[in-house]
Amino acid sequence: MNETAKAAKMNGQGSRIAGFYRLSRHERLARLAERFRLTEDELREIEQASPLSFDVADHMVENAIGVLGLPLGVGLNFLINGADRVVPMVVEEPSVIAAASHAARVIRDAGGFAAEGDRSLMIGQVQLVRVPDLSAAARRVEQARDRLLAIANAVHPNMVRRGGGATGVQVRPLPDTACGPMLVVHVLVDVGDAMGANAINSIAEAIAPTLEDLTGGRARLRILSNLADERLARASARIPFALLAEGECSGREVAERLMEAWAFADADPYRATTHNKGIMNGIDAVALATGQDWRGIEAGAHAYAARSGRYRPLSQWRVEDDYLVGKIELPLAVGTVGGNLQVNPRVRLSLRLLGVSSARELAGVMAAVGLGQNFSAMRALVTDGIQRGHMALHARGVAIAAGAPEALVGRVIERLIACGEIKISKAREILESVQLGDGLLAGT
Ligand code: MEV
Repeated sequence: MNETAKAAKMNGQGSRIAGFYRLSRHERLARLAERFRLTEDELREIEQASPLSFDVADHMVENAIGVLGLPLGVGLNFLINGADRVVPMVVEEPSVIAAASHAARVIRDAGGFAAEGDRSLMIGQVQLVRVPDLSAAARRVEQARDRLLAIANAVHPNMVRRGGGATGVQVRPLPDTACGPMLVVHVLVDVGDAMGANAINSIAEAIAPTLEDLTGGRARLRILSNLADERLARASARIPFALLAEGECSGREVAERLMEAWAFADADPYRATTHNKGIMNGIDAVALATGQDWRGIEAGAHAYAARSGRYRPLSQWRVEDDYLVGKIELPLAVGTVGGNLQVNPRVRLSLRLLGVSSARELAGVMAAVGLGQNFSAMRALVTDGIQRGHMALHARGVAIAAGAPEALVGRVIERLIACGEIKISKAREILESVQLGDGLLAGT
């Protein structure tokens, strides 16, 4: 069994680790080490101050002067297709990991997420300009399909041996651009478990001379498209009203308010943008932790959101009987092999914690995290508002930093929020007065 499969098995032991946030870093790592059989080397690696040596960074980019740190945390409680997942997330914004874990907790109680990723089909584009006759050229390209696929597959024979490779050619005439008519040829390639940018780009370059011969035009751009709409991932969840009740608000009422919130996003691009930003909070955090090209993912997601001609939400929510049903679909061009994944030790560790065994599985997990993140944000927005949760989390951090013991944290948080001054100095003051009050009471 390889390391990833072992991690998947360990992950199956449960992603619910009660009170994880209250543990010290050492205790958190000990829990994960136990669950995932992390080695001494892996633990040492994650505890090291710098996540990436400067030498490696210097080879990765030009003009390097250092390495920038961001928090790496884990989203808990995820149950996806019946498997427990501890989800590594890298994000600078407070509340994102807590919100994801909270959503995952509710959805876990509802039976978990269903998720899937399509076959890893990427699109390479070749732009042909100065084509004398677009229709005749398009016909000739279509007739030469097999020849083009053979040229494409000769570029990466290993990919073909692993069951991937070029599978299709599509012709897209653009008769009316700012620079006159153009012919664009798409080559579709199954890149397996890689993100696939390099493979696609070299294939696009390899078929370009033949396309020039076939069309009589000049090949210009030869590059992948980040609108990877042949490589979609989906996730869904079905939550009974009983799990949605919040304070005074019944589950049905919360579900109805959520529907109103979704309808707002569906009708208004200003809201849809923020709605989708909330989804990407989760997806980007997993993308960063697992070493993906998150700019490509972002570009693809937003283009997909606008595919109808209007920018719309990436998720859909509806009420069905006594359930709130959520779904998400978006392009997710992600890889579990190659590139950044090999050079960055923490990325390797993140993938091991997540325990996915293929790019398709990773895409499904990311879609589920996006849907969960969206659910949490909407639920907070339609009930208490987002600030209360943010403030409570911030206040918790401040109370703990001020030295509040577990038994008093709740009271310190309450008073910090009530006075509206969430600062360590104020928390210390409150803590002293709470301790004094308790001491006086104990003496009576
Ligand atoms: C904040 O990072 C994300 C939210 O604005 C998302 C949303 O409004 O749905 C809370």
